[in-house]
Amino acid sequence: MAAYYVTTPIYYVNDAPHIGHAYTTTAGDVLTRWHRQRGESVWYQTGVDEHGTKVQRAAEAAGVSPQEWCDRLVSQAWIPVLDTIDAANDGFIRTTQEQHRLGVQRFWEVVRDNGYVYQADYEGPYCVGCEEFKLPGDVVTTDDGTIMCPVHDRPVEMLSEANWFFRLSAFTEALISHYENDPSAIEPVSAHNEVMSFLRQGLRDISMSRSSVTWGIGLPWDEKQVTYVWFDALLNYITAIGYGTEPGSEQAMEFERIWPADVHLVGKDILRFHAVYWPAMLMAAGLALPRKVFAHGWLLVGGEKMSKTRLTGIAPEFIVDHFGSDAFRYYFMRAINFGHDGSFSWEDMNARYTSELANGLGNLASRGTAMVERYRNGVLPAAGPPTDAETHLQTLLLSTVERCDERMLALDFAEGIAAIREYVEAVNLYVTEQQPWALAKDDAQAERLNSVLYTIIESLRAICVLYFPVMPKAMAALWQSLGAHAALGEIADQRIQSTAQWGQMPAGTVVSKGENLFPRLADADVQS
Ligand code: MSP
Repeated sequence: MAAYYVTTPIYYVNDAPHIGHAYTTTAGDVLTRWHRQRGESVWYQTGVDEHGTKVQRAAEAAGVSPQEWCDRLVSQAWIPVLDTIDAANDGFIRTTQEQHRLGVQRFWEVVRDNGYVYQADYEGPYCVGCEEFKLPGDVVTTDDGTIMCPVHDRPVEMLSEANWFFRLSAFTEALISHYENDPSAIEPVSAHNEVMSFLRQGLRDISMSRSSVTWGIGLPWDEKQVTYVWFDALLNYITAIGYGTEPGSEQAMEFERIWPADVHLVGKDILRFHAVYWPAMLMAAGLALPRKVFAHGWLLVGGEKMSKTRLTGIAPEFIVDHFGSDAFRYYFMRAINFGHDGSFSWEDMNARYTSELANGLGNLASRGTAMVERYRNGVLPAAGPPTDAETHLQTLLLSTVERCDERMLALDFAEGIAAIREYVEAVNLYVTEQQPWALAKDDAQAERLNSVLYTIIESLRAICVLYFPVMPKAMAALWQSLGAHAALGEIADQRIQSTAQWGQMPAGTVVSKGENLFPRLADADVQS
């Protein structure tokens, strides 16, 4: 079966991860878990970008070799952060791996054979922060004549070296018509427009190698030069899944099965690399193009992009240690529209945690399961005939699943989550209106109470499946406490497509009040 293939950018290991990086990985994880929950075959790929000047200089500053530096940061920070945010990635690539090196060398040989590589001199500005050869329109000149990179707010370096060039200019027309024919290949629309206007100015050829850098992948035909770090890094998306391996081998067949990517998730700052250089490279090698590049916005601190350079980077564990990984995932997907910038604040996160998770979902789960324990000895009763109140929830569930599925598939996580949250609110309102605690005092209302208890637990079953891709730990715990594991099997095996089907929880299921899913948190003074 072909795989739904999602990638994150591979992160520079010049420093430890901050929540800006974890944000992209979380989005990809929610998206791929959603697709798995639909029964699709999925490949979720992430990893680290180890070469280039930036990493080399970080290692030099620390007085260790670049390889030692990378080994240390990858094992102590970049791999552990996946666990911190509970990411279920299928692959993790390091660009220092042998398979990657061979794939990169193979790729550029093919492109050179196809006539798209030639030798020339490069003279111009380079930003080490961006690892990018800058075009005149990309830089700003200060009053004293210093040429600055506006992204990193620091002077560019002037390079003058003999390089190998990639004939990028040959692909201007092909890229324009590709994106005209398939506008959804770049999302959101603002990103599509940005790329189109860049393309319409015409593309210039670009250096694909560096002679003054040593930390990188040597060109097979000129060992004195290393591959320009972006033209090494972008190739991770194919080398990670088997490109360049022995034809007919298992890995080569995996490549055939998985490529092209369905979605490359990228921050908007690296859109041009992914929506212009990358597809041009693929065309030059005769490979299929990715179906979509989605550019998300930045996490802002004080109105500016959060970054380590600006000392505004917040470590993911700083938040996860306090709120837990589920709340981290929920908050960032729910509070920021994917594709737009968003500000993080501890107060906002705390407020939403309390109202939506602890008081909203957590309270519904604990009331529902506790009442089955208290009033029916923990055994789920069969429902009596439905009244309008129950029919309303059943109908609402149908539209909830439909809306949620549609929004999640469109990478509109905030709206997808809003659909589930509104359903949770409707069930909480139902409990308040039906007053099961009052029904429990009147023996004549026993059947009515059965219906209400059944409706709450059956609703929780559906909520649990829908929220599982967003909050895997809490929903796995809730699934246990509903007794759904024994009755319906693993939560991972439940399908989105059948979630709205009412009446799946069998009467007689043993329900127990589990741990508090979202315990109330003492107001932390961590932020100060
Ligand atoms: N190594 C390159 C990517 C190569 S992909 C073939 C790179 N690395 S990075 O570590 O600098 O950035 C990786 C991703 O993290 C980018 O998508 C970037 O947008 C994202 N973020 C870094 N800071 C961010 C925020 N403050 N907010 C949201 N995302 C941010 O670029």
